[in-house]
Amino acid sequence: MDRNLALEFVRITEYAALSCARYTGRGDNEAADQAAVDAMRRAFDTVDVAGRVVIGEGERDEAPMLFIGEKVGKWNSDSPKVDIALDPLEGTNICATGGVGATSVIAVAEDGQFLHAPDTYMEKIAVGPQARGKVSLENSVEENIHILSEVLSKPVSDITVIVLSRPRHEKLITDIRKTGARIHLIDDGDVSAGIATCFEDTGIDLLVGTGGAPEGVITAAAVKCMDGDFQGRLKFRNEEEKQRAKQMGVLDLDKIYTRDELAGGSVMFVATGVTDGPFLKGVKTLSGNRALTHSVVMRSSSGTIRYVEAEHNFHKKPMKFNK
Ligand code: FBP
Repeated sequence: MDRNLALEFVRITEYAALSCARYTGRGDNEAADQAAVDAMRRAFDTVDVAGRVVIGEGERDEAPMLFIGEKVGKWNSDSPKVDIALDPLEGTNICATGGVGATSVIAVAEDGQFLHAPDTYMEKIAVGPQARGKVSLENSVEENIHILSEVLSKPVSDITVIVLSRPRHEKLITDIRKTGARIHLIDDGDVSAGIATCFEDTGIDLLVGTGGAPEGVITAAAVKCMDGDFQGRLKFRNEEEKQRAKQMGVLDLDKIYTRDELAGGSVMFVATGVTDGPFLKGVKTLSGNRALTHSVVMRSSSGTIRYVEAEHNFHKKPMKFNK
């Protein structure tokens, strides 16, 4: 995959983040999400790829834009064919409440390399590079914590596990607490949480719990770029979701997917912060009709993690959202 594409994609997440950041803390989830989707869709038109949305805003009948199967990019005769997994606003609620860690994200893979994950839930585990290949969803959480403690040479009481704060995680949280490990509970945003396990300075060692399946595929791609590890097992809420999964080609409904089965081949991940988070700063407005964005660009083939801080001058380059 052409490395120059990475910087093209970052312009897309910047645009989406700038657009939805205007709704920070305004309590309007729908407007924030819509602003990000509209901006991301428009920005895709400027990029020379033949992209197909594999993970997007939902099925065609439930999402007017960036739906699964939608073609994005210029689609010139020589445009590279890529699969796109995106979330224009990961952490809609975070943005609407002015919380921590909302991002705009895109993961890119070669044609056919992302799992076509249905819009259901996924049980997840993510760890950083040092623990790659050591933990598994087949183990109990207690076992995984003890393995991690050995691998990272830290006492269990210094291991920090990040978990979505949900009633469905009551037993999981009790089990983690029994080991003596620390817990960081978050209200939303398990893509950022998974990524945080790969940056030692976040203090997060392990992500466990059940969140969105589409977010799981995106996290697998991000973690792959940093040599971390991820596994996911689909969790269905009802029979209809199981049938949808079968139609999408999922044969074994209980399968534990490895990182590379979720995001195969060479992948790229870009994200722009919407609100301040563990690894990205959010959009900052400046005087004189300017704004700052903070993004990260990563590619699995090179392993380079590149931060892009951009100052946008809307006076010189007006953006359509800038009402
Ligand atoms: P959205 O940005 O789509 O609102 O997702 C936020 C999120 O917290 C994800 O990070 C997570 O995977 C999922 O929602 C969890 O779903 P639920 O809120 O239904 O438990």
